[in-house]
Amino acid sequence: MGDFAIVAKGLRKLYGGKPALDGLNLRVPQGTVRGLLGPNGAGKTTTVRILATLLRFDGGRAEVAGHDVATQAALVRRRIGLVGQNAAVDEVLSGRQNLVLFGRLFHLDGGRARRRADELLEQFGLDDTGSQPVRTYSGGMRRRLDLAASMILTPSVLFLDEPTVGLDPRGRNEVWEAVRSLVRAGTTVLLTTQYLEEADRLSDRISIADTGKVIAEGTPDELKSTIGGDRIDVVVRDPRDLPRAAAAVARVSGGEPTLDDDRRMLSVQVRGRVGTLAETIRTLDAAGLGVEDIALRRPTLDEVFLHLTGRRTQSADGAGGEEKAGKGGTGRKGAAGTGDGARTEQEVEA
Ligand SMILES: Nc1ncnc2c1ncn2[C@@H]1O[C@H](COP(=O)(O)OP(=O)(O)OP(=O)(O)O)[C@@H](O)[C@H]1O
Ligand SMILES: [Mg+2]
Repeated sequence: MGDFAIVAKGLRKLYGGKPALDGLNLRVPQGTVRGLLGPNGAGKTTTVRILATLLRFDGGRAEVAGHDVATQAALVRRRIGLVGQNAAVDEVLSGRQNLVLFGRLFHLDGGRARRRADELLEQFGLDDTGSQPVRTYSGGMRRRLDLAASMILTPSVLFLDEPTVGLDPRGRNEVWEAVRSLVRAGTTVLLTTQYLEEADRLSDRISIADTGKVIAEGTPDELKSTIGGDRIDVVVRDPRDLPRAAAAVARVSGGEPTLDDDRRMLSVQVRGRVGTLAETIRTLDAAGLGVEDIALRRPTLDEVFLHLTGRRTQSADGAGGEEKAGKGGTGRKGAAGTGDGARTEQEVEA
């Protein structure tokens, strides 16, 4: 399958006769990051677990790192790493002890396991804290240790299923940096996330899934341009001016503005770029409408997502985000919290 590190063709997975995956296609070139986005239940985790050989599937085919997922699972496993929601590391042990333990699990001898642990601690910026117990680590440090643990054998393909859920912006940044350094070293990454900003920043290309299929694919820029051109946002000084401002902006842009009363803001899609902005300012000015802020901007991935799936992402919708973060009880989606753990038992191939 050429230079593709991940290929899925018409993947199908049924649960009790109902399709969780319904002909999912994916082709990820080597050495790139692919974001896999989609609303809850779209099939992201199912896809990741199938590609990581943890779950059987009912139709289609898949190759990872050049090997068939169904018939060459052992070969695939040797080439991949997987970071799920639930930390695989031990709280009582230090970061270094955890990594050495993982090295031994992967059959490295003691000396090699220790050397690999030290390399990874350095690579993930944990060399200073490597001898402290993991329970003293911040969320970002734990996630980096998780990543390091998945990298003992330098996987050529790494699956990250919502790697930063529940982390604060700083922790998220730390994980992003770690992922970037892996990609620089040649690893291919498949990343699922609820945070569109994360997908936007890390991904070379993004696949958007819904009801078990990929419904759109492209670079972040390409996806943004599928929902039309740039937008103008206007914040009026006096909220009572909003309807009049909207009417004026509609005339200039030829578009239908959407209003956000709480933020005293209207937003409209425009065709020409700069001309329209200048004209909008002039028109509002001439109508005596006080403007606090006006900006020309590209559509966001959140808007693309909303347009394609009819749903907001959890990161765009604060309440949803909390619910997600709360699922596992600790801000992480623990295996027990989602029922994932229970499902895993019957599904894992021997
Ligand atoms: N073991 C199972 N038994 C029955 N249905 C399942 C099982 N695992 C997943 N599903 C269903 O398959 C569909 C896809 O689930 P999946 O976990 O892959 O979605 P997701 O995109 O990862 O969602 P989320 O954003 O919530 O993580 C959902 O409808 C889900 O309810
Ligand atoms: Mg999931």
